[in-house]
Amino acid sequence: IGKSSFVVVANRLPVDRVTPRDGPTSWRRSPGGLVTALAPVMRSFDGAWVGWTGSRDDAPAPFSTDEMDLIAVPLSAEEIALYYEGFSNATLWPLYHDVIVAPEYHREWWEAYRRVNERFARAAADVADHGAIVFVQDYQLQLVPNILRQLRPDLKIGFFLHIPFPPGELFAQLPWRRQILEGLLGADLVGFQREGAADNFIGLAERYTDATAGDRQVVTADGRTVLARSFPISIDVSEITQLVSDPDVQARSDRIRSEVGSPKHILLGVDRLDYTKGIGHRLKAFDELLAGADVTPDEAVMVQVATPSRERVEAYQTLRDDIELQVGRMNGEYGTIGQPAVHYLHSSYERAELVSLLRAADVMVVTPLRDGMNLVAKEYVAARTDLGGALVLSEFAGAADELSDGAFLVNPHDIDGLKRALLAAMRLDAAEATQRMKLLRERVLGNDITRWAQNFLDTLRAV
Ligand code: G6P
Repeated sequence: IGKSSFVVVANRLPVDRVTPRDGPTSWRRSPGGLVTALAPVMRSFDGAWVGWTGSRDDAPAPFSTDEMDLIAVPLSAEEIALYYEGFSNATLWPLYHDVIVAPEYHREWWEAYRRVNERFARAAADVADHGAIVFVQDYQLQLVPNILRQLRPDLKIGFFLHIPFPPGELFAQLPWRRQILEGLLGADLVGFQREGAADNFIGLAERYTDATAGDRQVVTADGRTVLARSFPISIDVSEITQLVSDPDVQARSDRIRSEVGSPKHILLGVDRLDYTKGIGHRLKAFDELLAGADVTPDEAVMVQVATPSRERVEAYQTLRDDIELQVGRMNGEYGTIGQPAVHYLHSSYERAELVSLLRAADVMVVTPLRDGMNLVAKEYVAARTDLGGALVLSEFAGAADELSDGAFLVNPHDIDGLKRALLAAMRLDAAEATQRMKLLRERVLGNDITRWAQNFLDTLRAV
């Protein structure tokens, strides 16, 4: 493995291990917009990706695919518990998502986070060529830019936060707020999903570090300038378009509709099983619609895909119990043999199956209480080449900035408002549905993930 002039650093590697019964282990690119967008850049710049395999103590030697070099950073069982499940997903994740559940602050978690961030930074420093571009991803690695800057002042460093960056009143809780801000200020360019997040960051950097804010989103720290701006992320539109035109996907979509049976309207939710997603709120709204006979089980059914996620973190276990209780009650109340009120699928699916579902759904219900962007909303729009369907979207998702014209925007805490939006989306006449979907598609097709990556990297090269 040689040196690379373009290095991506992310908590996870963009590959899944394939272990056939006979034959050697191999790696397959995992589905995901980010790797798709960066792969062309990787190919033309001998790119390397630094990340964790997702398994304990897993440290295969650096290896290459035809697209990029892969450098695995090992994590011990203890580090997974303290750095990943602990500080990343039980401190930062809830703190950055409006403290929907209470963040926990433990000094041992912080120590592990610091240690692991240093390991990622060293791995990146080892593989980066002189003057290379290093692109660091997300909340798990916020200290990497500054550590890397100390190790390798010659590098150009970009950082992108895929989740929200919270307002000062919440961020102030963090005992290590100064260190996190200084970590990010090690980058030349810090990208966020929304303009407000960049503003939060600049204000907090001024308050808690020696940095001073200039005009045009530039911060001066340590005699260097750092640009903080929003770059709303998107999806791989061409991947979805291809899947949609696949006859198998079309056939599968028809079959899903016929298997669901008589209900005229399929309401669909597709989420990681996460408390930020507002799954309980949408179930409650649908429950009340059925209870009040605004709709009958013959008219509407909900399909909720809940992909298992972070299952060893307590808040996720509690959430699963709550959701499954709620689904069980609703099915007991309104279901009949062969016709549940809610099809609940606790499983992860292939991309083709997901796109089939998107095509089968009349109303896509995306109701996060807080979400950096929400790519499922954009994927739904990309899948509706037929201009059918309707999108109900939380105003607390980053996607609402771009999709407010064609979507039914909702405050998921307002159950009556959510019920009204679901009804309106179900009763939408065909002409208005087409009109709305056209508006949505203009926005999504006009800014896909390739544009996003190009935008970010062009800006990084120019700073
Ligand atoms: C969010 C985060 C990503 C993360 C993903 C899946 O989208 O922004 O950084 O990879 O969730 O979560 P996991 O903990 O399984 O990596």
